[in-house]
Amino acid sequence: MSFQVALNFEDGITRFVECRPDETVAEASYKARINIPLDCRDGACGTCKSLCESGRYDGGDYIDEALTDDEAVFGYCLPCQMTPQSDLVLRIPTSSAAAKTAAATHTATLAAVKRHSASTVEFALDVDDREGLDFLPGQYVNITVPGTDQTRSYSFSSGPDQHQLSFLVRIVEGGAMSGYLTDRARVGDRIEFTGPMGSFYLRELTRPALLLAGGTGLAPLLSMLERLVRQSVAHSVHLLYGVTTDQDLVHLDTLEDYAEVIPGFTVDHCVADPASGARNKGFVTGLIDAGTLYDGDVDVYLCGPPAMVEGVRGHIASLGVSPATFHYEKFTPAAASAVVGAAR
Ligand code: FES
Repeated sequence: MSFQVALNFEDGITRFVECRPDETVAEASYKARINIPLDCRDGACGTCKSLCESGRYDGGDYIDEALTDDEAVFGYCLPCQMTPQSDLVLRIPTSSAAAKTAAATHTATLAAVKRHSASTVEFALDVDDREGLDFLPGQYVNITVPGTDQTRSYSFSSGPDQHQLSFLVRIVEGGAMSGYLTDRARVGDRIEFTGPMGSFYLRELTRPALLLAGGTGLAPLLSMLERLVRQSVAHSVHLLYGVTTDQDLVHLDTLEDYAEVIPGFTVDHCVADPASGARNKGFVTGLIDAGTLYDGDVDVYLCGPPAMVEGVRGHIASLGVSPATFHYEKFTPAAASAVVGAAR
């Protein structure tokens, strides 16, 4: 028996290692040839100090100079001493290069291309080695556009436990991936990508969550919902999905299906176009108030274009509410949905 430990490095690269309950995370990492920072290996120096974002573990033996009680309560831990009691997600305070590792490269076959509308395409991949690909719901990969030397970043819209991978793409005039998917893509094409990457991923739900999606920013949130289907969810989760025009709306049926099977999950959407047939017209900010934010006792996950991210942040600040955590990811449609940032 072993648990899966996700090691998230400062440069956004994530590597996964298998760790037995009787071995330390540091031992498992070194077996996987990943050199996380270590010095004393004895719980005395604090060099390996990392932040555990989810999961249960035995912290092991260490002295206060290496890790204080306050730090331990906040979630800091010592990989040279800790042993897992469940799957873990750790933030490692160094780059992947410093740990002598890098993003993994995967090869896949194009399995399907679905044109939702003039503005949105979805495609699916069958990965050659699915067992060798792990990711956290919300993360992305860099995909090489077939027939070019260009890469584009796309978040998984499929869940980590689903065999086939899927991605949502906003069609951009002149975009490399847009051109490929609309003109040249054929089922059976070979595709290469690297990853997973990014710090925009679902943490353990310890309070209500508000998920906010703008356009194809819905993709990583679909991946998170797919994960929640397989968990017991003890807190309410509300998704607000905003788009520009009616043709940009995708997966409304999927979202309704999730509302049937995830306890406490509710969803609403809005369309900015005044001519829309949607019940809510305008931006998602029109649907966010202090109640939606549980007066601050909420984890917010937001993925959308930069203007939406900034608009939501400004709106929440104007309400005088500070969410317990605020995770966001901006993407730039002009660069064919390149992911440009993720922060807490
Ligand atoms: Fe010194 Fe972990 S390496 S405390």
